[in-house]
Amino acid sequence: MTIKRVLSGMRPSGKLHLGHFHGVLENWLKLQKEHECFFFVADWHALTTEYNNPSAIQENIKEMVIDWLSVGILGTDLKSVPNSTIFLQSAIKEHAELHLLLSMITPLSWLERNPTYKEQVDEVKDKDLHTYGFLGYPVLQTADIIIYKANMVPVGIDQAPHLELSREITRRFNFLYGETFPEPQTLLTETPKLLGTDGRKMSKSYNNAIFLSDPPDVIEKKLLPMFTDPARQRRTDKGNPEVCPVYFLHKIYSIPETITWVEQGCKTAGIGCIECKKSLIPSIVKKLEPIQKKRAEIVKNPDIVNEALNKGNKKALKIAQETMTGVRKALKLQ
Ligand code: TRP
Ligand code: SF4
Repeated sequence: MTIKRVLSGMRPSGKLHLGHFHGVLENWLKLQKEHECFFFVADWHALTTEYNNPSAIQENIKEMVIDWLSVGILGTDLKSVPNSTIFLQSAIKEHAELHLLLSMITPLSWLERNPTYKEQVDEVKDKDLHTYGFLGYPVLQTADIIIYKANMVPVGIDQAPHLELSREITRRFNFLYGETFPEPQTLLTETPKLLGTDGRKMSKSYNNAIFLSDPPDVIEKKLLPMFTDPARQRRTDKGNPEVCPVYFLHKIYSIPETITWVEQGCKTAGIGCIECKKSLIPSIVKKLEPIQKKRAEIVKNPDIVNEALNKGNKKALKIAQETMTGVRKALKLQ
């Protein structure tokens, strides 16, 4: 198998939840075993929507990176996966230079028809997203990717239109200035159907998330009132586990015997929902234990985060600088 360069980023949203873990981080952990991986904090991208409230960003960066390291990005001792690099977007100013140059060749119509743009400008009511920066979000994202000449970009389906744009912009650059960048391939991450405690998609903004760092009593407090099969109103009603988010969590966290017990018990009204939820709590707590142990170590010694980022920033910077030398030459700049 040829080793590919993989790159992906996350906006700094603070502490990560189970949805991030199963939707993104598990995939990163798998990829870092097989490929050269670059994972970065997209803090400039955070400003495209949080431009009026930048004060939380530093704290959010720190909490998110602690979670990355706690789950095993860079390896359990933070060095046993030497081909993995984490870095901070804003530490590599070259992204901004490439973003500027790409903005020269990106037709406005490509950005205006971007479905995420249209959707968010209409739907997000509490912010004014009619900005130059927000429209250019995918242009910056393209710079993030191609400055490292990444071959594969693992993202969820919601990011697929952005990646398609990145490929188009890359092709246009290569056409105008000569073959410079590989066209990045989208590596679609399958997101398991992990729902929050209210039955909607798990998301920090819905207030329905279970965080990787939640202690056992908080997990219990969140799980006990959790949404279940809405048709199961009374203890005597038979339920359908396939439509119940509690059952989805059991399938991820519980041992096979418990899963069978839940499935049978739910369908026959043999068990109650509270009983079912109570048996889920220790399963989740146990899975999160090693992650939280690692987290506590890092929190005690916060330099670990700075060191990991500084080291990664240096490595990323070197590649980005080399790429930009080639790019300037291709554009007849100095
Ligand atoms: N837009 C991505 C998200 O919201 C974050 C991101 C920024 C990204 N730049 C990237 C992802 C480059 C992959 C590659 O999740
Ligand atoms: Fe959901 Fe469990 Fe209740 Fe069935 S018994 S509806 S799986 S919480």
